[in-house]
Amino acid sequence: MVATAAGGVGLWRGYDANGGSVLDARVGPDLVEPPTISSREGRLDVRLEAAAGVNLAGRRTAAYGYNGTSPGPTLQVRRGDVLRVELVNRLDVATNLHTHGLHVSPEGNGDNIFVKVAPGETFRYEYRIPDDHPVGTFWYHPHVHGQVAEQVFGGLVGALVVDGSDVEVDRDRVLVVTDTTLDANGRLKEVSTPERMMGREGLLVLVNGQVRPRLTAASGDVERWRIINGCSARFLNVQLDGHVLHLLGYDGQGLAGPVERPELLLAPGNRVDVLVQFAESGEHLLRAAPYDRGGMGSGMMMRGESGSVDSVPLATAVVTAAESSPRALPVLGSRLPDLRREPVEVRRTLTFAMGMGLGGMSFTIDGKEFDPNRVDQRVRLGTTEEWTIQNASPMDHPFHLHVWPFQVVEPSAGDIPNWRDTVNVPARGRAIIRVRFADIAGRTVYHCHVLDHEDNGMMGVVEAR
Ligand code: C2O
Ligand code: CU
Ligand code: CU
Repeated sequence: MVATAAGGVGLWRGYDANGGSVLDARVGPDLVEPPTISSREGRLDVRLEAAAGVNLAGRRTAAYGYNGTSPGPTLQVRRGDVLRVELVNRLDVATNLHTHGLHVSPEGNGDNIFVKVAPGETFRYEYRIPDDHPVGTFWYHPHVHGQVAEQVFGGLVGALVVDGSDVEVDRDRVLVVTDTTLDANGRLKEVSTPERMMGREGLLVLVNGQVRPRLTAASGDVERWRIINGCSARFLNVQLDGHVLHLLGYDGQGLAGPVERPELLLAPGNRVDVLVQFAESGEHLLRAAPYDRGGMGSGMMMRGESGSVDSVPLATAVVTAAESSPRALPVLGSRLPDLRREPVEVRRTLTFAMGMGLGGMSFTIDGKEFDPNRVDQRVRLGTTEEWTIQNASPMDHPFHLHVWPFQVVEPSAGDIPNWRDTVNVPARGRAIIRVRFADIAGRTVYHCHVLDHEDNGMMGVVEAR
């Protein structure tokens, strides 16, 4: 039998902000996936209750969840469906709901992040998923400006899958990665000002709310993993020991390939759909390898607790010898358009910067902090634009645009059109994207997906008409 950490010393120390770390945990409990709620006959009506009090790392905690779990239920819909969510706020602060990555209306009771749901109140969202919506893995989380990092770090995340069974595999798994820090009594730890500047990283790194869960498979099996980086600020440079990852796509933006990758970088907000073909039997660790996302610069502040120094264990695959012959990897032709061959109507440059202001450090885009009453980018519906995202700061900022997915043209990913809804813009570097503002009109936001940066003002308003 494999040693489990449940009730062991490692897990307890995982709660201690000053003591040991979750790295001490050995192979954990069997992987549990969040409950799945699927649409039927073109609709999914679901009630999501946001409240404190969930199990994390095998213990009762005061962290937050939806319907009593963190992550909340996986919502599974199909193209053409209508998704209705009745959001009930049982927190003591305002919250709301964002369907990250969905190409749906951002207005009215759609994916409208300007809505605020007060404590004790209920709001009914309705999302119409287009017939030609990309298929893959999306997610949901709160989006009340100033509260996003706190609530996501607290556990308010869930997976959203569009058209589940499009690829034949032995197993299809949702792996929602989150991080948080809890004290010995399971309460959320206060986050310091430097942590809010850097972007908070938790001492507990969880997969589906578990520390280093164990998943079992037979060698030769092909599994599809839907990995979601639901951390507030932690970057995940995902590797599976002894295996390559077969990438189907980022951010649910249409599936192609698969393309072999030794590792995949998921900035906060990113998802990957990957196939894993298990090789020989044994224990294989899924880990987040070290990644340096920069710092505050000029030694002004400490880097703080950061996952960038050590490799962080996420899960362990326990592979047994096969009884049947291995499954062949499916091959999918790309169905993604390539905007590099299309004319561009408008070019813009957006500059992300950090600076010292009177009130402390400021986080700006084009010199401005977020103002919900200002429109920063006015776009004509139906046009294709090229945006250069310039990063003038010593820290990485993952750029995320709501509603309209984009193609990354720099850095180039070769032949395959690199579609995303979130792309990392490295410290002192840039990314160039092309966006087709098609089909859906409305006013929404783009921002840094290090959620503390967003809460600190690194967000702008875009309106397409
Ligand atoms: Cu994942 Cu504006 O959000
Ligand atoms: Cu989003
Ligand atoms: Cu940022």
